Amino acid sequence: MNYEEIVVYLKSKVKITPEIGIILGSGLGMLAQEITEQTVVSYSEIPHFPQSTVVGHKGQFIFGYLAGKAVVCMDGRFHYYEGYDLQQVTLPVRVMKKIGISKLIVTNAAGGINADFMPGDLMLIRDHINLLGVNPLRGKNEETFGERFPDMSEAYANELRTLALTAADELKINLQQGIYVAMSGPSYETPAEIKYAKMIGADAVGMSTVPEVIVAVHCGLKVLGISCVTNMAAGISRQKLNHKEVMETAEIAKEKFMSLVKKVVSNM
Ligand code: 6GU
Repeated sequence: MNYEEIVVYLKSKVKITPEIGIILGSGLGMLAQEITEQTVVSYSEIPHFPQSTVVGHKGQFIFGYLAGKAVVCMDGRFHYYEGYDLQQVTLPVRVMKKIGISKLIVTNAAGGINADFMPGDLMLIRDHINLLGVNPLRGKNEETFGERFPDMSEAYANELRTLALTAADELKINLQQGIYVAMSGPSYETPAEIKYAKMIGADAVGMSTVPEVIVAVHCGLKVLGISCVTNMAAGISRQKLNHKEVMETAEIAKEKFMSLVKKVVSNM
């Protein structure tokens, strides 16, 4: 992949050098409106970039300032279920790394598996389980980014998790913690699959995040992950699942979500 061409293009459009990257999950795009001195670059104008297709997802980078920090925010991400391969899904992470970020905040909408969770809860991701059946680093190793066999024993940086817990405390936000499992989607899981996920230690399930985090860890980024539990997974509650509910609950959690991310960013 020709990262250089992409980076040259973005640098020609944007003056600021972001230190933090933020990937916004389904229904969590409103955080982008909090960014000041915005420079917006649509994915469609960037050479070699895939295009985003899901309802509720835009496809643009927003550069600017959040809580006093220079950030680049992905308003819209690429999902495996859309048909992209994991190289395409994770391309923006390497682009953001090349542009100068050292920390990445990944967010998503997820289904709750842990019975202590409720729709509208936020969950700090402690660790993940990759059930996509593929790894984005498969293939020739890009030595300029990182090593062949990256260590994943602290994929979600302890330092950033502590920061998030402190911020939640100060804001009196009940921040859950748990393990995120990635499934390929686009169908939601069956109750049997959710039972399995629970048995292997998952607290929340989603269709994103894990590929980006693997690539981020590979290239040395410190990662913070936050899930918005938008619904309970199949068999955990009797409710049938639909994307509209996911989007509506994200809307309800948005104040908490925005204040938490802003505080974390300001303390980073
Ligand atoms: Cl229940 N499953 C998956 N895979 N993704 C989700 C979800 C469930 N709820 C929101 N996103």
